[in-house]
Amino acid sequence: MTATAQGSTSGASAPPRARKVVLAYSGGVDTSVCIPYLIREWGVEEVITFAADLGQGDELEPIRLKALTAGASQSIVADLIEPFITEFAFPAIRANALYEGRYPLSTALARPLIARRLVELAREVGADAVAHGCTGKGNDQVRFDVAIGALAPELTVLAPAREWGMSREQTIAYGERCGIAAPVSKQSPYSIDLNLLGRSIEAGALEDPNVEPPEEVYAMTTALEATPQQAQTIEIAFEQGNPVAIDGERLDPVSLIRRANALAGSHGFGRLDMIENRVVGIKSREIYETPGLLLLIRAHQELESLTLAADVQRYKRQIEASWADLVYQGLWFGPLKQALDGFLDRTQATVNGSVRIKLHKGNATVVGRSSSSDSLYVSDMATYGSDDRFDHRAAEGFIYVWGLPTRLWSARHR
Ligand code: ARG
Repeated sequence: MTATAQGSTSGASAPPRARKVVLAYSGGVDTSVCIPYLIREWGVEEVITFAADLGQGDELEPIRLKALTAGASQSIVADLIEPFITEFAFPAIRANALYEGRYPLSTALARPLIARRLVELAREVGADAVAHGCTGKGNDQVRFDVAIGALAPELTVLAPAREWGMSREQTIAYGERCGIAAPVSKQSPYSIDLNLLGRSIEAGALEDPNVEPPEEVYAMTTALEATPQQAQTIEIAFEQGNPVAIDGERLDPVSLIRRANALAGSHGFGRLDMIENRVVGIKSREIYETPGLLLLIRAHQELESLTLAADVQRYKRQIEASWADLVYQGLWFGPLKQALDGFLDRTQATVNGSVRIKLHKGNATVVGRSSSSDSLYVSDMATYGSDDRFDHRAAEGFIYVWGLPTRLWSARHR
């Protein structure tokens, strides 16, 4: 790998890996260096870059131009925010999807969408391969490769950063020799992935799982010391499991997520610090902030507790955990994920109503829930008052039958 790391100027000895490549592009060092690397080392004739706008708030025009400077023949930017929310985030809310019970999959959900658009573009421009800048130890390479393989088996997937064996310093040096400016500002020690659903922060001091994350890693959530003293109670309305309004104001899906982020974030709700089990078998320390998504999942869970039958609600928990695993593990386009979607969709018809949540000092506490059309909470069954219609005497026969196996077993083995 030393010749490579020092930047040989041609891959003349090996046959070209592909002719025309569409590269998933973020504007960062790795994906930028992928452009000259694919051309010089792997003999690719033409690299077309694709950057997705997922609401990360980056300026996309400089990113588009940077790809051209680095040698791309064409630099494409596409706004995918709307499908990201409606086709990926909302199903995750309906599924109450939390990987390992905690991580709401803010990064993982974006990957199948990027892969889908990458494949469409490759077909539109007649490319014979697609490429990404993922390394060999993350989850994202798994998600991209599996998705692309499912959607377009005819396309080769190239992952230069998985093979080039360069350290970060060597990568930057390689880029500079190819006219890619080193990162100007003082380089952040963190590896950050972000989109409208949240941020993932890794590396630097965070690699010691016993070190408290410095406040500077957060951008979407306010430090508890600086959140309002006054609690704020908000109301979130759902239709068929989808959030549709906040505080009585109907919002389109993208605006609704933005509003939820702002509300939860301003009260310091939505931070996670966890040790996560990656697909490739290693544990990693992950910091997330996903204020809106966690708030909406909490509210959605609560509305389900009011509107789903007990057995469906309980069974759904197992399906939710499996669904979250599949999305995390890159199996979005797999047959089990599709089959579970069928179950989940079927459960959501009655998830209509509102949940009130009090936001205060990092907490989101449910304080009320209602559903005029689908509540299964029946007052004259639940009440301890005089209008109680529950037949208390019927309980005796029920308990006789219910306890029978236990009594028989005990009589024999006592
Ligand atoms: N561990 C998370 C996931 O697999 C996030 C990884 C995002 N990448 C990053 N450079 N922070 O979904």
